[in-house]
Amino acid sequence: MSASSTPTDRDALRRGIANLDDQHAQIASLAREAEYLARAGYTPALHRLLNELSLRLKEHFDDEEALLEALDYEQLAHHSEAHLALIENLAELLMGVTRGAAAALDVQRFISSQLTAHFLSGDAAVDSFFQRVLHHT
Ligand SMILES: [Fe+2]
Ligand SMILES: [Fe+2]
Repeated sequence: MSASSTPTDRDALRRGIANLDDQHAQIASLAREAEYLARAGYTPALHRLLNELSLRLKEHFDDEEALLEALDYEQLAHHSEAHLALIENLAELLMGVTRGAAAALDVQRFISSQLTAHFLSGDAAVDSFFQRVLHHT
């Protein structure tokens, strides 16, 4: 993130957080759709959707990390590693879907135990950090 877009005031920070919240909602809805397509066995549609999910995730992780970096979040390296692991696991899942080797259960497992878990626990720490900064800005 460039110095000019650093969230130096409360409004900029609020906008940054609102953007991340919107992305979380979009990703959650793509994830629900992916689970549905996996269960239904619609492989080409599932492949397209997981591709889209991967792009949205990368975009979201970049934005989230940029905001955390601008605010000197101490756990950034650890959080970024978790993001990278999710991207890598999704890439592997995507290859599995392409080869016909990944089953609906693999997609469900990725979404419920990895992706959702990150949003619920990893991002919860990030969210309380944002709230602390916001209330001291
Ligand atoms: Fe997030
Ligand atoms: Fe995150």
